[in-house]
Amino acid sequence: MAAVTARPPGPKNPPIIGNLYAFRSDPLGFLSNAAREYGDLVYFKVARQHLYLVNHPDYVREILVANQGNFIKSRALQRAKILLGEGLLTSEGQHHLRQRRLVQPAFHRERLAGYAAAMSECAVRWRERWTEGSALDIATEMPHLTLSVVAKTLFSADVQSEASEIGEAMTSVLQMFRWLLLPFSEYLDKLPLPAIRRFEKARARLDATIYGLIRERRNSGQDAGDLLSMLLLAQDEGEEMSDEQVRDEALTLFLAGHETTANALTWTWYLLSQHPHVERRLHEEIDAVLGGRAPELADVPELRYTETILSEALRLYPPAWAIGRMAKAEFSLGGVEIPAKSICILSPYLVQRDARWFPDPEKFDPERWTPEAREARPKFAYYPFGGGARVCIGERFAWMEGVIVMAAIAQKWRLRLEPGQRVEPLPLITLRVKNGLRMIPEPRAVKARTTLPTGT
Ligand code: HEM
Repeated sequence: MAAVTARPPGPKNPPIIGNLYAFRSDPLGFLSNAAREYGDLVYFKVARQHLYLVNHPDYVREILVANQGNFIKSRALQRAKILLGEGLLTSEGQHHLRQRRLVQPAFHRERLAGYAAAMSECAVRWRERWTEGSALDIATEMPHLTLSVVAKTLFSADVQSEASEIGEAMTSVLQMFRWLLLPFSEYLDKLPLPAIRRFEKARARLDATIYGLIRERRNSGQDAGDLLSMLLLAQDEGEEMSDEQVRDEALTLFLAGHETTANALTWTWYLLSQHPHVERRLHEEIDAVLGGRAPELADVPELRYTETILSEALRLYPPAWAIGRMAKAEFSLGGVEIPAKSICILSPYLVQRDARWFPDPEKFDPERWTPEAREARPKFAYYPFGGGARVCIGERFAWMEGVIVMAAIAQKWRLRLEPGQRVEPLPLITLRVKNGLRMIPEPRAVKARTTLPTGT
């Protein structure tokens, strides 16, 4: 008798569409229920696609690390090639490995030191634009702030002046790009639809700007200390990147490097507004470490409590709330045979809210981040930056930026939630706040000086 491939348990799959409707309309609710009801490995279908929800840290490690060669990224990221080309986020196999070797030096410790000054400068400028008592949408303020950081660190450009062109072109490309990620949209690419034409026009404008910057920098031959210079200087066995490769990587870093960090910061301000005792300790730490001056690189390791707040915000609201992988060949996981072409969904959001690894998981508690508590948990109980060969290349950059921005802003302002809002997550490509986050800045008693850090 032929061996029967056992499937893990899971919700019933209605004919033809499977769980398409439930999954699309409320992915977090659907996946949370599935994990609660069916456990560490759950099977379901969305249209004709076989999906496996992977909820155990050991299984996550199997896919991201031990067996990583058997997986490629799933559809959304493959689709992203129409914008990002063959950059780090979207490329696969040998090409990805080579690009990773070329881009890595841009994130070395010595290089990061230069970026810290730019981060602090942007955050200090940003906080000076706010006025007492007038409500802000923090969910749009944070992406603007992190966009200015990435423009400065990547291109030495100031989005409020010369690079606003980049900021604008990027924003219009992104708006249309979201549309292109809709199901079946690949069939629309070749049609003369106005939205497709608009996307192509915006992409051409963005390309012209970026190629212009690349040309200028190649001609000047100077190392401006930014990521772009690093990409241009990068060599692998004597080979350097073509202009097109530099364009793909620059755009990838621009995209991957601002929305995620902005998300994390947005949720952090929300959580702080709900936990005044944590906010008080944050203020004490910032005042003790900075004493009124703007944060600098050397302060980052001293701002330990600040970092634990960010760790805890990334636990409860990981910006990359789901990571998808498609199996190239059949493989076995937890005693189940998973066929080739199945999609595995790994959700940091779910695993990081599992009471087995984080008791009282819904509670916001920065005290979870003592060195001993970290040691006691399995490695992939917490993975907001992914893992294996495709772990986030900007992880250190993001921690540094998060801590510096938190310190610079909380040094001057306390952000109060405007009453009457329902704050809910919106799981798009990143985990956003549905309908924005209205907050009111109140000045703190300690006067922050507006001096900019040295070296800017
Ligand atoms: C809180 C902020 C951030 C979070 C939560 C985050 C999360 C992630 C995750 C989960 C992945 C892996 C995706 C996968 O395996 O499918 C990833 C990859 C990546 N991230 Fe980040 N990221 C953040 C900030 C940044 C920053 C600041 C940069 C750049 C300046 C960056 C650049 C990238 C790139 C280029 C990749 C692809 C790496 C590769 O495949 O080799 N990220 N990020």
